[in-house]
Amino acid sequence: MTTRCVCPGSYDPVTNGHVDVITRVAALFDEVVVAVLHNPAKTGSFPVQRRIELIHESLPAQLQQSGRVRVEAFAGRLLVDVCRDLEATAIVKGLRSGTDFAYELPMALMNRHLTGIETIFVPGDPAYEHVSSSLIKEVFALGGDVTGLVPDPVLAAMEAQRAQRE
Ligand code: PNS
Repeated sequence: MTTRCVCPGSYDPVTNGHVDVITRVAALFDEVVVAVLHNPAKTGSFPVQRRIELIHESLPAQLQQSGRVRVEAFAGRLLVDVCRDLEATAIVKGLRSGTDFAYELPMALMNRHLTGIETIFVPGDPAYEHVSSSLIKEVFALGGDVTGLVPDPVLAAMEAQRAQRE
């Protein structure tokens, strides 16, 4: 039996914290589906297709070549329905802190209530404890240096986006 999990998120954009969790989880499951969940009514900072490309470009080459990680977008759907369609047996979330846990626990319990699917929490690398997509965007927009906190392709994409706006 193939073990398959889903790593859901907005990934707007993917950070080094995300990449770390996806990479570590890939050692535990046969297949990992990185699910970019988005609200079709909201634009976000990066278009969904660009978010997907950036995740692909940011994963370690060996993992990319393994073919065991898929990146797919899902709009306006319950995560549990996505998991059912994908025949995934677990949802995986990275946790940076107790605050993350407080935010994630009700969702994990609700998802289990809905279909019985379990959520597995993976402790994030403390090196990225302060890293979130929203904080990265805010710091970068105000001229801060986010080198080392996001993958190089993401930094390049943010710089290109800024150059376009100027
Ligand atoms: O990266 P984020 O923004 O923290 O990801 C949150 C996300 C997209 C994983 C969460 O909002 C979600 O699961 N959305 C899908 C809709 C859904 O199933 N909502 C009910 C959750 S109990």
